[in-house]
Amino acid sequence: MNVLQLIERCSARLDQAGVSFGQGTTNAFDEAAWLVLWRLNLPLDALDDVAAHELDEPTVGHVEALIAQRIETRRPAAYLTGEAWLQGVPFTVDERSIVPRSLVAEVLADGTLDAWLHGTPARVLDLCTGNGSLAVLAALRWPAAAVDAADVSSDALQLARINVQRHDLEDRVALHAGDGFAAVRGRYDLIVCNPPYVNAASMAALPPEFRAEPALALAGGDDGMDFVRRLIDEAAAHLQPHGLLVLEVGHERAHFDAAFPRLEVAGLPTSEGDDAVLAIAREALEPAGAAR
Ligand SMILES: C[S@@+](CC[C@H](N)C(=O)[O-])C[C@H]1O[C@@H](n2cnc3c(N)ncnc32)[C@H](O)[C@@H]1O
Repeated sequence: MNVLQLIERCSARLDQAGVSFGQGTTNAFDEAAWLVLWRLNLPLDALDDVAAHELDEPTVGHVEALIAQRIETRRPAAYLTGEAWLQGVPFTVDERSIVPRSLVAEVLADGTLDAWLHGTPARVLDLCTGNGSLAVLAALRWPAAAVDAADVSSDALQLARINVQRHDLEDRVALHAGDGFAAVRGRYDLIVCNPPYVNAASMAALPPEFRAEPALALAGGDDGMDFVRRLIDEAAAHLQPHGLLVLEVGHERAHFDAAFPRLEVAGLPTSEGDDAVLAIAREALEPAGAAR
């Protein structure tokens, strides 16, 4: 059996078992390719080069044991491998934070934000940083920027520290422990935030893979907007006059619009459409609370 045939067999097993995707991959083939290539110590981005490599029976058995673990435990693939990639950048991952997959990473990397920013941002805040992935991507995107990264979870911040060190960014990414904006000082040119925004009904229906992630990172109250309400009320005080808030709301745009019917926002294009990541200029946030 060659590598591609093994991936196809594992993909069929994942499909039959009904595992959930959405934490780094969106389908059984990609998830199987990730797990198979990782277990074989092969590069994850060069399947074509290794697809025809023949594998012996013990090696096939070794890989299939990992697929069985994925099916039996329902743990996300990234918790099994300890690593995930976002915009081509590797991050260390474990149960202390969610698997990095924020759509904000797309608009950080693809230049979408350039039209919204007034030049290169000097100070950036990643609020709700979790594993630190968005803070790291922002620091890589703007090499002269000072980046603050804040989270209320000390577990998540331990992981963020590992990722900041992994990318040699200790001198430019500062980590802060605190509730919301409590631990940060001064004004930012750009605030990015992928907050907990899953509504209560969706939380109750989460598949096991997502229940393996910290509830603190996902649950946003009845309509998903508990944290977002505080953020919208307080953000203007932490932004420069020309500053920008970039906020992920995922599938909760309807709840966001219901909570802030008068707030002027723009949906940014991402791979999941134009409603999942919002750009909000500081002027729209002034005066605090006027949005509701
Ligand atoms: C959806 S996760 C995002 C993690 C990371 N930014 C990412 O995109 O992968 C939300 C994060 O918000 C943090 N969080 C929840 N409530 C918070 C609060 N009141 N203040 C600061 N951070 C909070 C959680 O600990 C979690 O790490």
